[in-house]
Amino acid sequence: MTRPALRLENIVKTFPGVRALDGVSFEVLPGEVHALMGENGAGKSTLMKVLGGIHQPNEGRILVGEEPAVMANPLEAKAKGIVFIHQELSLAEELSVAENIYLGELPRKSFGRVDWATLYARTDEILKKLKVGFDARTMVGTLSIANQQMVEIARALTVDAKAVIFDEPTASLTDSEKVVLFEVIDDLKKDGVGIIYISHRMEEIFKITDRISVLRDGEYRGTLVTKETTEDDVTQLMIGRSLDLSRNHEHAEVGDVALEVRGLSCGDLYRDISFEIRRGEVVGFYGLVGAGRTEIAETLFGLRAPSAGQILLDGEEVHLGSPVDAIARGISLVPEDRKGQGLVLGMNCRDNMTLPQVGDLTAGPFVSDGAEIAIFDQYRDKLDIRTPGWRQTVGNLSGGNQQKIVIGKWLSMHPTLLIVDEPTRGIDVGSKSEIHKLIRQLASQGYAVMVISSEMPEVLHVSDRIVAMYHGELIRTFTSDEVTEDSLIQAISGIRTDGGDKAA
Ligand SMILES: Nc1ncnc2c1ncn2[C@@H]1O[C@H](COP(=O)(O)OP(=O)(O)OP(=O)(O)O)[C@@H](O)[C@H]1O
Ligand SMILES: [Mg+2]
Repeated sequence: MTRPALRLENIVKTFPGVRALDGVSFEVLPGEVHALMGENGAGKSTLMKVLGGIHQPNEGRILVGEEPAVMANPLEAKAKGIVFIHQELSLAEELSVAENIYLGELPRKSFGRVDWATLYARTDEILKKLKVGFDARTMVGTLSIANQQMVEIARALTVDAKAVIFDEPTASLTDSEKVVLFEVIDDLKKDGVGIIYISHRMEEIFKITDRISVLRDGEYRGTLVTKETTEDDVTQLMIGRSLDLSRNHEHAEVGDVALEVRGLSCGDLYRDISFEIRRGEVVGFYGLVGAGRTEIAETLFGLRAPSAGQILLDGEEVHLGSPVDAIARGISLVPEDRKGQGLVLGMNCRDNMTLPQVGDLTAGPFVSDGAEIAIFDQYRDKLDIRTPGWRQTVGNLSGGNQQKIVIGKWLSMHPTLLIVDEPTRGIDVGSKSEIHKLIRQLASQGYAVMVISSEMPEVLHVSDRIVAMYHGELIRTFTSDEVTEDSLIQAISGIRTDGGDKAA
C-alpha cells in the first residue's frame, strides 16, 4: 500500500463560540488529487490552515510521511513541502510578480544585493509554463484577480512540494486559465505530489479528483472514490439530503416593463445593447468572461457612464450618475468582486448587512439597533448564514458565508431591479439552490431580476429569458422554452443562429 504523503489525525480546532473542527482525520497520497468538500463554514479552509501552519490545532497531530510534524508557522510548513494556494489572495500589490513569487527567498549576489537578472529570468521561466499574458516585472496590483491567482500558482511551483493545497482556485479563472491550471495539477500529480483540492464545483471535482472527503459542521463524514460515486452521493454526505436540480420552474406572473435598455453602448466594452426586463421576470446574462456583462451591470448601477443609448425605468428615461442615484431609483447590485466592493471586513455582520440603509433605519438621531438586528436575523435565516451571532466580525466568517452577507445586504433593500453578478460563486450546493429559490421568489413578488452567471446550469435554472453575449455584443435572446445547451454555446461563441427553425 502507498504511504500517505501526509496525514492529519483527530484535529480539533476551536474559535470563540465556534467548534470549527471536531476530531477530523484526512490524508493525501503521493500523486493523488484529493477533494475536500463541505458546505460553507464546514471547516475546509480551517483544516488546511492547520496543515499550513496558520492555525495551531487544540488537539490532534500531523504526519508528514510517517514522521509527526509540528507546523508552527507558514514558513515551517513550506519548508516541510506544504504549499498553500489561498482562497483569499495574499499577494503584496505594490511589489512585482517576481518579488511576490520569491518573497523571503530572493536570489542574492555578494554583499546581499538582490540578483535581479536571475530573479526575473527564473520567474519568466515559470510564467511561460503557465502561459500567462504578463511578465516577471509586472506590478501585482495592476493584474486582474484571475491573474493574481495565477501568480499564487506560480509561487507554488517554485517549491519542492510534497503536497499542494488549492483552496477554491478556479473561483475567478476563465475557462482557458482553468485548462492551464488542470495541466499544472496533472504535472504535479505525475511528479508524485499530493494535491488537496477544495471546490464547490461538482463538474471539476468529478473531472480531476481521485477521491473526495467530506466535512460537515466541523466533522469528518467520509471518503468516496470519485470513479465509484455520483454527485448525488456527495451532496447527500455534505448536506444530508438530495437536491432537486431540475430546470423547470414556475414562471411568475409577468408584469410591466421595469427596465428597458435601448441601443446602449460604452466605448469598446459593449455596443448597441437593447433588452427589457419585466416585473416578475428573471433575465440571465450568459457569456464568457470579458463579454461585457459586468460592464452593463456597472452602467445600470451608475458606476460607468454609457457613450450612447438610453436607460428607462418604469418607462421613464433616467440618467444614473452614481450608485447613490441608482439606489434611489430602486436598483441594487450584488457585485462580482464581493471582497473589494461588497464588504467591510473589520465590521460586524449586522452592520455590513444594513450599511446602505442606515439612513432609513435611523430613529431620531440614533440608528435603531432592534430594526437592524431584525433585518440581520431575517436574512441569516433565509440564506442560512453560519455565524455565532451578528456581533461576529465579517472577516472571521468562511468565504461563502461572507458572500451571503453581501447578498442579504442588497436583498434587504427590496429593490425594483436587482442585479446579481455571479450570485453563487464560492457558494456550496445546498445554499446555491436556496439562493436560486430566493431569486425565483423575488421574481414572483414582482421584482425584476438580472442575473449574470458564467455557469450554464445556473442561468438555465433560474432564468425566464437568457441573453447571450459575445465580445460586447448581444448575439441573441432566448426564452427558457426554446433554449438548448448547444444553441447557447454557439451564441456565446459569436455564432448567430436566430434564423434557425425553432428560433424564428
Ligand atoms: N479566525 C476565525 N475566527 C473565528 N471563527 C472562525 C475563524 N476562521 C474560521 N472560523 C469559523 O470556523 C468555521 C469554519 O470556517 P472555514 O473557513 O473553515 O469554512 P469553509 O469550509 O472553508 O467554508 P467556505 O466553503 O465558505 O470557504 C466557520 O464557522 C467560521 O466562521
Ligand atoms: Mg473556505
